[in-house]
Amino acid sequence: MEREIANLVKKSIRELQKEKVLPQFDIPEIHLEHPKEEGYGDYATNAALIISQKVKENPLEIARKIKSKLSSCRRPPFERVEVAGAGFINFFLRKEFFVEELNRLLKRGEKYGRDNYGRGKRVVIDYSSPNIARAFGIGHLRSTIIGQAIYNIYKFLGYKVVGDNHLGDWGTQFGKLIAAIKMWKGGRVRGLSVADLEGLYVRFHRESEEHPEMVKMAREWFKKLEEGEREAREIWKDCLKISRREFERIYSLLGVKIDYSLGESFYRPMLEDIIKEAMKKGIARESQGALIIDYPEGDIPPAMLRKSDGTTTYLTRDLATVKYRLKRWKPELIIYEVGAEQSLHLKQLFRAVEIFGWGKKTRFVHVAHGLYLTKGGRLSTRRGETIHLEDVLSEAVSRAKKIISQSETGRGLSEKEKERVAGMVGIGAIKYNDLLEKPLKNIVFDWEKILNLRGNSGPYLQYTFARCQSVLLKSKTKIIPGKMRFSHFNQEEEAILREIYRFPQVVRSAAERFSPNLICGFLFALSQKYNLLYGLHPILKAREEEKRLLRLSLTKAVAHLLKSGLTILGISVSERM
Ligand code: ARG
Repeated sequence: MEREIANLVKKSIRELQKEKVLPQFDIPEIHLEHPKEEGYGDYATNAALIISQKVKENPLEIARKIKSKLSSCRRPPFERVEVAGAGFINFFLRKEFFVEELNRLLKRGEKYGRDNYGRGKRVVIDYSSPNIARAFGIGHLRSTIIGQAIYNIYKFLGYKVVGDNHLGDWGTQFGKLIAAIKMWKGGRVRGLSVADLEGLYVRFHRESEEHPEMVKMAREWFKKLEEGEREAREIWKDCLKISRREFERIYSLLGVKIDYSLGESFYRPMLEDIIKEAMKKGIARESQGALIIDYPEGDIPPAMLRKSDGTTTYLTRDLATVKYRLKRWKPELIIYEVGAEQSLHLKQLFRAVEIFGWGKKTRFVHVAHGLYLTKGGRLSTRRGETIHLEDVLSEAVSRAKKIISQSETGRGLSEKEKERVAGMVGIGAIKYNDLLEKPLKNIVFDWEKILNLRGNSGPYLQYTFARCQSVLLKSKTKIIPGKMRFSHFNQEEEAILREIYRFPQVVRSAAERFSPNLICGFLFALSQKYNLLYGLHPILKAREEEKRLLRLSLTKAVAHLLKSGLTILGISVSERM
């Protein structure tokens, strides 16, 4: 629809130019938006304002000319065009279009908006990526939730998507960890938890600040590890096992499954080749025994490929990862869902890939997320003030349980059902809160808001879905799409109709802009509109049959959209809660 209207606007301008009503100029890209206020129609464009900058004519005048041309279109997709403000052109779509779209949605159900837009195209998403022997941090939680949503969005649009959990299971920090385990645990890992491992590391790190010989020891252990020495490898492997087990538990709580977890260590055998290629291409140079890459533009600092002690770096491993992914999956797009604090690292990586001359047809994108703040400041896992993620998740679930026991549709649920629904609501609430804003924004962790049944929250949307289902269940009416010809809509009905058709475009925009928050915004607006209808008008007891069917159709449509939208966000729904 958007494209269709944009083309009509272009065509009108062209004709106005031919008739010399407008002078010659290159017609700009026509952008359409959904106006915030209903009175401004379904789409608006600022084309006249843009053109007025090119031709020195009053934008209002230009808008009027375009409008009158548009009004003479044959069979236009809109029922009327208006000029507003300083020169905006507003479009009001035909009512039949809304009904057709409603019917299409009812026919396709949760497949509505599913697309083959991405057919034949591949995307790799690097997300979650926690570090071995470290607690699964809040940053990794964000990466997991946002990364998974982006994964689902691309999948919905028909892309072939590969998710890869780039576990931090290699690097000099393991030298410290192994040294600590040797020193304080006699080299035995069995029986230790991830928190113990993290504690050992932190203690070693702290004490080594005053004892330089410890730093040397750690370096030696990492070197042994890189060379494949048996004891170093055994200890490392045990740490890996313990961490993976803990991460799996968190993923299962979150209902997340990632296709691959190759991890940094996987690329070890490929690192030598990367270094050789860099030397051969004249990309790297020696500097005080280390090997570094300079960036000719000088806008980013040089990056290290190999340290002076011969060990490799995070960047070298990321380079090998890129090369491997390009070869194995031939993606059009590689997305890194990683905290904003790694922006420089990823810039260095992407630029290095360019210098190497790899993946010329592949786009690299860093989707950076912001911090998690408590009302009092930063929620951090650094320096040992660990927050236990599992505690946060189980707190969410137990708070959700309280809410369910008070809800109107939750009455009569068995104890076991309540348990299940509480899990769904608690985890859903945490996820939604994380997706609600653009990834880059910092988010404030506030239980009141996260679980607010009346606000923009996961539980509110899940609850609206359950409400729709309960109406549909009681109606005992089969809704047959295509059979209905609705002619009159009251304001609340129309508001829902004018929301529904936007969904497919919302999902596409969410993909293009790496912004799951657009889907949240859509679902929230839709739910509010539905709840308004629900509060103001009888559905099951509507007096006319046409009204009853219309309201039931809208109820079904809203239920489909909530289910499919929330599923894309990685949030489950339940018929009752
Ligand atoms: N493990 C890293 C960390 O926690 C994140 C890895 C991100 N992905 C990547 N390809 N570098 O800081």
